[in-house]
Amino acid sequence: MEEGRFHDPVLVAEIIGFLVRKPGIYVDGTLGGGGHSLAILQALDRAGYLDKSLLIGIDQDSAALGEAAAKLSDYGTSSVLVKGNFQDISAIVGRVCGERGRDTGVAGILLDLGVSSFQINTAERGFSYLRAGALDMRMDCDAPFHAGDIVNGYEERELARLFYRYGEEPRSRSIAKAIVLYRQMHGSVKGTEELAAIVRENAYGGEKVIKSLSRVFQALRIEVNGELDVLRQALAGGVETLAGGGRMAVISYHSLEDRIVKRSFAEKAKSDWGPKGVGLREPLSCGSINPVTRKPLVATLQEIAVNPRARSAKLRVIEKVFFGGCCEK
Ligand SMILES: C[S@@+](CC[C@H](N)C(=O)[O-])C[C@H]1O[C@@H](n2cnc3c(N)ncnc32)[C@H](O)[C@@H]1O
Repeated sequence: MEEGRFHDPVLVAEIIGFLVRKPGIYVDGTLGGGGHSLAILQALDRAGYLDKSLLIGIDQDSAALGEAAAKLSDYGTSSVLVKGNFQDISAIVGRVCGERGRDTGVAGILLDLGVSSFQINTAERGFSYLRAGALDMRMDCDAPFHAGDIVNGYEERELARLFYRYGEEPRSRSIAKAIVLYRQMHGSVKGTEELAAIVRENAYGGEKVIKSLSRVFQALRIEVNGELDVLRQALAGGVETLAGGGRMAVISYHSLEDRIVKRSFAEKAKSDWGPKGVGLREPLSCGSINPVTRKPLVATLQEIAVNPRARSAKLRVIEKVFFGGCCEK
């Protein structure tokens, strides 16, 4: 990505192909710089669906909303941008549709998880171990809790648990111990550079240092933003908000996120056939979704060559089941 660009969206053609199939309400729960949203609006326009459609873009970061508003300005009447958390997707869609006098059944939802390139590249936001910044890491700059509260406030055991749980970091205990020792000697860890130095000194050597740095920073970011809990809520709320036949696409970037998406979708897709051997002709209860992608879709080598961020992207798509009779599709 060129320096100064806000964010280059990944898997755009795939997202459009899976999501945009009819006029209706589309929700981009992770608006970012508006790259995916713009592509959705353009696709709706090309298909002649724009007049009957509305895009609701949600982001908790005010900087993202400003960038996206400029990018989507040609589609001002077809889009509504909301500062909020995607965990509240049902309530946000309900409110916007109420204001616009529209049905709330949603045709398509996109969640492109994690942080944008803009957030990572803005040093003072504290997301990157490569840049000198504050221990912040809040996606929502109005939120009260930041990375400094964790690094300088958590006990050693809590830190170790966090780095292990949300970073799967093998040196979690040593790094936690070193942070607490540093606090005792220097009062506090003041910024990303000091934290990165502590991790470097206590990680396994060689190439593993970089892995430990990204795992520790990832763990802190997940904790600051409650990322895994809000994802679970958004997946449940998103499926609830979809109209029959509507689709939800989720792009994840690490195994903790992907596991939650995979399990949550599998759980909702499962029909209950009661105890084994009963021989029911119809299930007791039906799954509310069908998978559209059986396996997660990944980026092509060509895309990864121009947008390295696409390397770890995994896309899963589901479709809400139409309920006329039991399990009717
Ligand atoms: C990977 S970027 C999305 C980029 C976007 N698809 C584009 O084309 O520019 C993720 C964005 O989602 C936002 N975000 C992450 N978690 C969120 C949440 N729980 N609620 C609302 N926005 C969230 C971040 O602030 C960030 O702007």
